[in-house]
Amino acid sequence: MHIVFMTPETWPYARVGGLAEFSHDLPLALARMGHTVDVITLRCREGLELCKDLSRLDFELEIPVSWRTQQAVFYHHKPHERVNVYLIANDHYYERDGLYGNAFGDYEDNAERFIFFSRAALELLIALEKSPDIIHCNDWTTALVPLYLKTLYKEVEIFKNAASLLTIHNVQSQGVFWHYDMPLTGLDWEYFNQDVLEFHGKINFLKAGIFFADFISTVSHRYAREILTPQVARGLEGVILERFSRLSAIINGVDNDTWNPAVDPHIKAQYTADDLKGKKECKKELIREFKLSGEGDHPLMAFVGRLLDRRGLAILLPGLEKIIDMGADLVIMGFGEDHYHTSLAHFQSKQNGRLGLYVGYDMALAHKVMAGADMLIMPSKSEPCGLHQLHAMRYGTAPIVRAVGGLDDTIRDHSSTNPGVGFKFEDYTTNDMLRAVQRALDTYAETNEWQALVGRAMTRSYTWEQAAPRYVELYERARRLGESRQE
Ligand code: GLC
Repeated sequence: MHIVFMTPETWPYARVGGLAEFSHDLPLALARMGHTVDVITLRCREGLELCKDLSRLDFELEIPVSWRTQQAVFYHHKPHERVNVYLIANDHYYERDGLYGNAFGDYEDNAERFIFFSRAALELLIALEKSPDIIHCNDWTTALVPLYLKTLYKEVEIFKNAASLLTIHNVQSQGVFWHYDMPLTGLDWEYFNQDVLEFHGKINFLKAGIFFADFISTVSHRYAREILTPQVARGLEGVILERFSRLSAIINGVDNDTWNPAVDPHIKAQYTADDLKGKKECKKELIREFKLSGEGDHPLMAFVGRLLDRRGLAILLPGLEKIIDMGADLVIMGFGEDHYHTSLAHFQSKQNGRLGLYVGYDMALAHKVMAGADMLIMPSKSEPCGLHQLHAMRYGTAPIVRAVGGLDDTIRDHSSTNPGVGFKFEDYTTNDMLRAVQRALDTYAETNEWQALVGRAMTRSYTWEQAAPRYVELYERARRLGESRQE
């Protein structure tokens, strides 16, 4: 099958969240199955270092944006014999600090930036004379593509057999813009109606994608149910319900070559479920790296992820002091909202070597944290799938998670009578979180019980070898449904 995969972030060229890993791992897994994949992504400032080695395509395209055109330049890279990565460049749109925004918020011209991206991606396929079987779009940034395929690009020969799948990684970022942006889309005003783009007087990109994609998917079963509620879907629940028969859920995988403590080059000592000596060394190394005062005798709990409300910072922060009082040391790595950077730095300065902080995201350090910590806390308010808990399990680090989205799907709660792989709590409150932390610490104190839990976690597997064939099934279903609609 010839698959085109559209995504604004792909590891290693740009990473904001887990979408970057998803967009790196799934195309490779599909290629290993024998499919041909063209990944179309962005060339942005963050990835410029890496982009130096890319070859520039020998043509440029003028992309229509409202009454004028803007120039798209393309770069190419071939990470696998069956994977082409094309990066769309335009300095005016993408040579900026962040992919979606900066410290002051989302960029004001995001509608234009991602309309340009979507159209440049389609124009590139035309220029290269590719005729994909499926175009796999991800999140609001590429959600206009299914609509374009059924409108502006309907008569284009190479797209006649192309079905579309839209994967929702986060339903709360919808791409909502004022209606004056409508001319930028190149679509007639007739599409500004409540069955297509209109949403409370504004334009909503994700809504269009949900309506027009031949199939829709999301990244966990529980999240597929959650997005039917107004609390999570924020106004799109009705649209999703309408297309419920075309919605499916596939849990993300973990790339075995990248996240494997037996061969991981980033960690101090490799280890396996049968021989955990190396994990102890990794813990000591992590303690040194974060300049903690302990010797490895306290349980070590980590948080890795974006420092955002939806990642649970609002309940984690008030609980940090208690967690330290309960006997655990802490390591926190992530970046996000500025006020969290400030309050964590302040808290760290008072904690005398009990809390280590790294503001930023460093992939090598993430490996060291997963290997060196005993527990990983993810108190998310919402978590469509979550990847860190999957990495943690692979590294024998017990996840403490709130029972939402993919966290609920992937973590079996542990008790001494009902063995599991981590600790779950329900309510989005500091107290409920602390009760789960206490259960984890109590279990940690029971060495044999803890070892058994670690062993179970390490052998629980979520792989792309399992998930990729399920995507192929969805592609096939999308193609069948796409055809039936054309008739
Ligand atoms: C988003 C979601 C996260 C998911 C990732 C990849 O970052 O917030 O839960 O794991 O996408 O699908």
